[in-house]
Amino acid sequence: MIKPIIIELKEIESTNSYAKDNLASLQNGSVVVAQKQSAGRGRFDRKWISDETSNIYMSIVLKPEEAFNNQYPYQNLTQYLSVVVCRVLESEYKISPTIKWPNDILINCAKLSGILCEAKMQNNTDNALILGLGLNANIKQETLNSIEQKATSLNIILDREIDTNHLISLIIDEFFTNYDLFIEKGFGYIKEEYINRCDFLGKKIKISSHNRTEEFTAKLISDEGTLVVVDAFGMQKNIVTGDLTYC
Ligand code: BTN
Repeated sequence: MIKPIIIELKEIESTNSYAKDNLASLQNGSVVVAQKQSAGRGRFDRKWISDETSNIYMSIVLKPEEAFNNQYPYQNLTQYLSVVVCRVLESEYKISPTIKWPNDILINCAKLSGILCEAKMQNNTDNALILGLGLNANIKQETLNSIEQKATSLNIILDREIDTNHLISLIIDEFFTNYDLFIEKGFGYIKEEYINRCDFLGKKIKISSHNRTEEFTAKLISDEGTLVVVDAFGMQKNIVTGDLTYC
């Protein structure tokens, strides 16, 4: 099992950027945790609001020895992390999060957590995957209101302050304890659990990608973790990337 090494920082631009910039000195299994980010980033070049402390901004650094770029099961790592976070939220707080394909975590259709995976391919020794997780743990309602997407935070759901250090350590433990199993078995290891949390299956959805939005019915999640949809003419399509909206 990889032994995680936690690096705690005060304010930095972004834990993902820090990991990329310091890759040579970061070991496999390093976890960069920041109190605040001045330039937090999300998927599709979106900003991730990170100026309140007591939230979770962290990046897990993985340096697999084998080839991993877009390869199975590394392409499903963000889905693995989303299942890991759901397991922890369910057992620790007795709440029922859902997963919005591919890896957003929602509570009642409001976003609680997002994941941004970046790969750095430099040479044969410094290649890495950086798995960034943002989780709203203690955010003021007025900050949430300023976020374009419908968003929520654990302190608001549970009506109490959240101990982020405790939550971070639970996520890291769960992630590394089962990581080898996930790498060995691939998406199949989490497929059923993942699908059980996908409440959009069977519903009308919109997929936006490259400035284009299309409507479909969500059919199933494939063995590779892709989203299989059906269009208005009954044509089936395999979606590998895009932004999903359904509620
Ligand atoms: C998304 O839902 O669009 C992904 C959001 C990912 C945000 C996290 S916060 C920690 C890490 N550092 C970043 O700059 N982004 C990720």
